Amino acid sequence: MSHHYITFKDVCFSYPNSKPVLNGVNCTITHGESVALIGANGMGKSTLLSLIVGIHLNFKGSIVVGDIPVQKAALPHIREHIGYVFQDAEAQLFMPTVYEDIAFGPRNYHLPEEEVQKRVQSALDTVGISHLKDRACYTLSGGEKRAVSIATVLALSPDILLLDEPSIALDPCSRRNLIHLLKTFQHTQIIATHDLDLVMEVCRRTLIINEGTIAHDGPTKELLTNEKLLRENGLELPLCLQQPNWA
Ligand SMILES: Nc1ncnc2c1ncn2[C@@H]1O[C@H](COP(=O)(O)OP(=O)(O)OP(=O)(O)O)[C@@H](O)[C@H]1O
Ligand SMILES: [Mg+2]
Repeated sequence: MSHHYITFKDVCFSYPNSKPVLNGVNCTITHGESVALIGANGMGKSTLLSLIVGIHLNFKGSIVVGDIPVQKAALPHIREHIGYVFQDAEAQLFMPTVYEDIAFGPRNYHLPEEEVQKRVQSALDTVGISHLKDRACYTLSGGEKRAVSIATVLALSPDILLLDEPSIALDPCSRRNLIHLLKTFQHTQIIATHDLDLVMEVCRRTLIINEGTIAHDGPTKELLTNEKLLRENGLELPLCLQQPNWA
C-alpha cells in the first residue's frame, strides 16, 4: 500500500433491526491529510470509522483503503496499516498490564523482543506515561486508559490513524501533548471528535456528518467559523471562538 488514501463510495449501513445510520457516504481522504469528522451524537462518526477496519462488513457501496477494497479477505492487510483508537478506551485494553497491552500488537507481527521493547518504550515516552508501564489496566483512571489506548496504536507505527474521541478524559497537559503528537504525525489521519478546538489546531479539512451523509466537506477554517451552519448540524462554535459567559 503506497498511498494511504481512503475512498467511500455510496456507503450505506444499518445495524440489525435498526434504521439506516449511513445513507450514501461519499468522500475521499487523500494521502497525508488530517481530517476531522464531526457531527451531533448518534450521527454515525464511530460507525463510519469502524467500517474502515471492517468491524462490520455488511455495508453497501465501497470503501477502499489505499488500493484495497474493504472485504473480509483483505482485513489482515488493511489492519496492518491502520491504527484505530476506539471511542471506548476500555474496550481496547485487554492484557493484564499496560506494558503487555502495548507490546501485544508488535508481538503479533512477530517482531524480535528487543524491537518490541523499543517500540513500547517509545510509545510510552511519546504519550508521556512511562510511569504507568507496570500498572494493571483495570486499575487505571479514565484518562490514563485513554492515553494507554493511544500508545497501543502508536507502537504499531501505523500509516493511517483513525482516532475516535482521542482527547476525551485527558487532562489539559495530556491533551496538549496529544495535539502536538497529532500535528507532527506525517501520515493520513481521521479524527472523530466533539473537541472542536483540537480540530482547529490539527485538521485543515473537516467533514460534518448529518442524517447519514457527509453534509459538509470543506476547510476547517470556513466550517468551524460558520455559526449558523454549525447550529444547523447540532453543533456550536469552538470554545476559542465563543464569548466568555461569566456567571
Ligand atoms: N451496536 C449497535 N447496534 C445498534 N445500533 C447502534 C449500535 N452502535 C451504534 N448504534 C446506533 O447507530 C447510530 C450511530 O452511532 P455512532 O456511535 O456511530 O454515532 P456517533 O456519531 O459516533 O455518536 P457520538 O457522538 O455519541 O459518539 C446511533 O443512533 C446509535 O444508537
Ligand atoms: Mg462516536
